[in-house]
Amino acid sequence: MQVIKPRGVHIIVLGNEKGGTGKSTTAMHLTVSIQKRGFRVGVLDLDTRQRSLTRYLENREAFFVGHGLDLGLPEHLVASPSSLPDIRERAQEDAELLDSLVDRLEKDNDFLVIDCPGGHTHFSQLAHAMANTLLTPMNDSFVDLDLLARVDPETYAIERLSLYAESVWDSRKLRGASGLPGTDWVVIRNRISATKSKNRQRMDTALESLQKRIAFRYISGLSDRVIYRELFPKGLTLVDLQDIKGGPKMSMSHVAARYELRKLLDQLDLPGWQG
Ligand SMILES: Nc1ncnc2c1ncn2[C@@H]1O[C@H](COP(=O)(O)OP(=O)(O)OP(=O)(O)O)[C@@H](O)[C@H]1O
Ligand SMILES: [Mg+2]
Repeated sequence: MQVIKPRGVHIIVLGNEKGGTGKSTTAMHLTVSIQKRGFRVGVLDLDTRQRSLTRYLENREAFFVGHGLDLGLPEHLVASPSSLPDIRERAQEDAELLDSLVDRLEKDNDFLVIDCPGGHTHFSQLAHAMANTLLTPMNDSFVDLDLLARVDPETYAIERLSLYAESVWDSRKLRGASGLPGTDWVVIRNRISATKSKNRQRMDTALESLQKRIAFRYISGLSDRVIYRELFPKGLTLVDLQDIKGGPKMSMSHVAARYELRKLLDQLDLPGWQG
């Protein structure tokens, strides 16, 4: 059986088997926020195909170079999956590679942010078992909730757990069997619409009741704001807006967005974050 090693770095995994829920965008915002607090952050991109977080960081580097900024980039690695033909050997090689990448990133960092792809991969499953904090953003939709649990179509009551919740359960078991402390699983809604709707309220109720069933913390998330999409090409985040010349001007909506992000980070309860 695979054994998960104890680590000297706090590992935050962004995970959800559903694609496009805001994992990479949130990973980038967490990375920069944590860096701004004076912590050293390593980044590991496990989305070997899309590499959105890597692209985000490359854009950031290009922006810094282009604007003569020396603000420091996080140490960043990308994993490449094994191409061995035998499934067992492939799994073994993947596990060894992941371990060696985390070994490298744990040396000089206080936090490690791992971005997972929107699907189930061996890397992703192992990374979930390494998580001190697992952050799962989800869209404000029952389609997304379906990966956590099935709900009754009439009452919206939780009927049973589904795919992703079961897979997190497996990772937690693997972690427990390796003698490691439990993962703090945190679920947030992302791209929350500004208008109140029945759907929004039902999602809220479903997540409130689900958190008791599958041991996650449901905390406040991020609203749907166009700024998140606009910042990507420049490699900037909401946290940078005030400090960096050449980025978008701060508006009231950006101030509100920064407040939400700050609240999310405070509620994440990361080691050394408060005070
Ligand atoms: N709070 C937000 N408001 C508006 N747009 C957002 C927000 N968060 C993310 N987006 C946009 O939603 C899309 C998906 O976001 P992102 O790539 O971060 O998701 P992902 O979960 O990493 O996707 P994948 O599973 O494909 O890796 C992107 O276009 C991103 O710019
Ligand atoms: Mg992504």
